[in-house]
Amino acid sequence: MDIAVIGAGNRARKYLSCLPDGVRVSCLVEPDPLRLRQAAHRYGVPSSGCFSDAGDFFAAAPPVCAVIVAAPDRLHVPLSLASVQKGWHVLLEKPVALCSEDYMSLLEASRQAGVHVGVCLEMRFHPYFRRIKELIDMGAVGTIERIEHTEHIGPDRMAHTFVRGLWSRKDNSGPIFLSKCCHDADFLLWLTGRTPLEVRSRGALETFRSDSAAPARCIDCTRTGCPYSAVTLYRERGEWTDGFDVPEGSTLAAVIEEELRSGRYGRCVYNCDNDVFDTQDVEAKLTGGISLSMHLEGTSLREGRSTVIHGSAGTLSADNWQIIAPDIAEDWSHLAQLPLHAGADRLLTEDFFAAIGSGRAPLASLESAFQAHRLCWMAG
Ligand SMILES: NC(=O)c1ccc[n+]([C@@H]2O[C@H](COP(=O)([O-])OP(=O)(O)OC[C@H]3O[C@@H](n4cnc5c(N)ncnc54)[C@H](O)[C@@H]3O)[C@@H](O)[C@H]2O)c1
Repeated sequence: MDIAVIGAGNRARKYLSCLPDGVRVSCLVEPDPLRLRQAAHRYGVPSSGCFSDAGDFFAAAPPVCAVIVAAPDRLHVPLSLASVQKGWHVLLEKPVALCSEDYMSLLEASRQAGVHVGVCLEMRFHPYFRRIKELIDMGAVGTIERIEHTEHIGPDRMAHTFVRGLWSRKDNSGPIFLSKCCHDADFLLWLTGRTPLEVRSRGALETFRSDSAAPARCIDCTRTGCPYSAVTLYRERGEWTDGFDVPEGSTLAAVIEEELRSGRYGRCVYNCDNDVFDTQDVEAKLTGGISLSMHLEGTSLREGRSTVIHGSAGTLSADNWQIIAPDIAEDWSHLAQLPLHAGADRLLTEDFFAAIGSGRAPLASLESAFQAHRLCWMAG
């Protein structure tokens, strides 16, 4: 099966590393010339299959069966719409759309074209979160009454992605609750099988605000022990550098130094142009009388998700890879450092291609992900 990839960045690389046998990338669409060149080399795509402009790609209408859309969020709907109108199945990164009208137009177009759109909501495929669902489905807490869920984004991801990075401004990528917590909302609605009736939300940007006393760049800072130091993160620990492109003839070390000196990722977190919230509380009433309380925490120094599910027969707590419920105590910490979201990216990719190969809908289908997006739009 020939496929195309639109947006050959960080996420596309993950999916391309786990394509099932028989699936071949024959086209790449990527405006960044270095990324296009390097991806073409890595995946053996001939120059005739390489496009720097999506319009040229759609006009050429190559004979592909499916596309992976891993371009920036605001392009998801137009690129997917054009793809389904060509009769191609789509594996689409989250969030699907920034508003309900766009989501519905894609849903309608995919129905009319008779193609499937799978959404990259990998919590549904993650062994730890699947286990939580399995236990709930087995009746571990009886009937669910209330859920308290916190996502600690973690200092590295918060600084890299939501303060310095490409998801730091609402006008570019939409609100943080949509870009980060659509995973959580989807998992919780999938877990309960319920839909939101009403949503109340309160968010704030309190920590990562401009401070005129802060230096512009971490390399010029004399403060020690800052948990958000770009120098520590990139130069000393060598982490979160996957998205740094290394041109032929250069080195990652040189690219990091350049970034620290003049790139967006060298900026002090108290001197960026970010405007997305760093904390947010969302209270939702779901059908079936369930109350859902979600907290997005971008300022704590811990990372990870914590979920407490209260039911008629007891409580399940899932925190820091430990699942505790009546008569159950399970340690899933062996998954913590496993790549590809502990294999969930692979399972998601395999499910998508198995689904379109057999004519069924993918597990994380466009239809099934709508309510989670709705909850996020209502939260703002
Ligand atoms: N599922 C997850 O866990 C997860 C995690 C991170 C990001 N994401 C989502 O994945 C998507 C991609 O994120 P990323 O981290 O790979 O970002 P990225 O910036 O590394 O990759 C996006 C790529 O799209 C390219 N692009 C820009 N305009 C384009 C256009 N008009 N046509 C084609 N390509 C274009 C960019 O040049 C870039 O190479 C985003 O929507 C993001 O929200 C999902």
